[in-house]
Amino acid sequence: MNTKKQIRIGLIGTGLMGRIHTNGYKRLSDFFPEYEYVPVLQACCSRKAERAQAFADQWGYKSIETDWRKIIARDDIDAVDICTPNDSHAEIAIAAAKAGKMILCEKPLARTVAEAEEMVKAVEASGVKNTVWYNYRRVPAVTLAKNIVASGKLGKIFHYRANFLQDWTINPELPQGGDGLWRLDVDAAGSGVTGDLLAHCIDTAMWLNGGITDVSAVTETFVKERVHVGSGEKKKVGIDDACIFHCHFSNGSLGLFEATRYARGHKALYTFEINGEHASIRWDLHDLTRLEYFDHGDESQVRGWRSIHVTDGDHPYMKRWWIPGTSIGYEHSFIHQVSDFFLSLQTGEPCHPTFRDAFETQKVCEAVIESANSRSWKDTGVEWVEKV
Ligand SMILES: NC(=O)c1ccc[n+]([C@@H]2O[C@H](COP(=O)([O-])OP(=O)(O)OC[C@H]3O[C@@H](n4cnc5c(N)ncnc54)[C@H](O)[C@@H]3O)[C@@H](O)[C@H]2O)c1
Repeated sequence: MNTKKQIRIGLIGTGLMGRIHTNGYKRLSDFFPEYEYVPVLQACCSRKAERAQAFADQWGYKSIETDWRKIIARDDIDAVDICTPNDSHAEIAIAAAKAGKMILCEKPLARTVAEAEEMVKAVEASGVKNTVWYNYRRVPAVTLAKNIVASGKLGKIFHYRANFLQDWTINPELPQGGDGLWRLDVDAAGSGVTGDLLAHCIDTAMWLNGGITDVSAVTETFVKERVHVGSGEKKKVGIDDACIFHCHFSNGSLGLFEATRYARGHKALYTFEINGEHASIRWDLHDLTRLEYFDHGDESQVRGWRSIHVTDGDHPYMKRWWIPGTSIGYEHSFIHQVSDFFLSLQTGEPCHPTFRDAFETQKVCEAVIESANSRSWKDTGVEWVEKV
């Protein structure tokens, strides 16, 4: 007899993230079979009934809704998964928190610090379990980087460098609005590459290297006008197409970050590098199973950058998968987040990053945009740094 406790998921938004989260829920019992809690694909929501039904049929949801409010009103939903564009995160999350539902929210937490603050207040007032899908933390090589930094092997850290480079919006004929392309509409997205790409880099950076205290940024919008899908008219583009910022961390190290969707040839080149007194590490999403490591303590004749293939059974998460030397991929970072969320239901611990953790990232994103607009340094106001 199945004695597992069921968590009935209400998924809102059936695009890219709707698919990848659902894949995560579906894999949990196969690869984490001993967990006390299991997800049940109770309902999915898309604004068009045919789309919701097609998604439900393909992925195995029991029922559909076309209005997210109905998902929240239902007694047979325990957890709400927010996979919609950024402009609806706050409204949905606040309503879900008031209804006492657990919340798994996509990143960035919100469009602005003000929205994010209301979301944090709502989940903390109701005490509902919450997490934000900054999934890159759960790529095994990135988790290994966290363990290496936490072990102190790098010594004092001097530099943190991160890039997130793409090339998919160079065509000026692309409209703003619609599936995926809502990212080009500032009202839907809140910002451009800062909230979309740099938010990931900032989350990982603060997780690995502590709080970012102040920033100085430049942004550029290369295509100034695009047709808006809503009106059919050309409209000013309000997002940042590219952003570069430098910053201080509270541990005294310097940070340098760049994101763009205009780096021809790069599809999702998220890289970071950390340089410490004794050692350095670097990672690259295009080669995500490897972590590069340089240790100055090695004997000089053989000293050099090691390329660690993060596939051994004692590497983070890897004992769950195949055999040493065989790789896992992008979708596994989401499966691991599902797994950590369901484990946290058992342990009663928070599933980081929580809304409060993601609020700190939001503060840095907003300071970056304000700095670029005012051409001046901005304090981030980051006060609290998650300890994991
Ligand atoms: N963690 C990551 O690496 C990652 C990657 C991509 C996107 N995201 C985030 O996930 C969210 C969704 O992005 P996506 O790439 O899946 O976008 P998408 O355009 O592929 O899908 C969004 C879906 O939401 C639907 N939608 C919009 N408004 C809705 C509403 N009011 N009710 C119900 N459905 C609605 C759209 O029709 C669409 O199907 C965004 O916040 C984005 O920043 C995170």
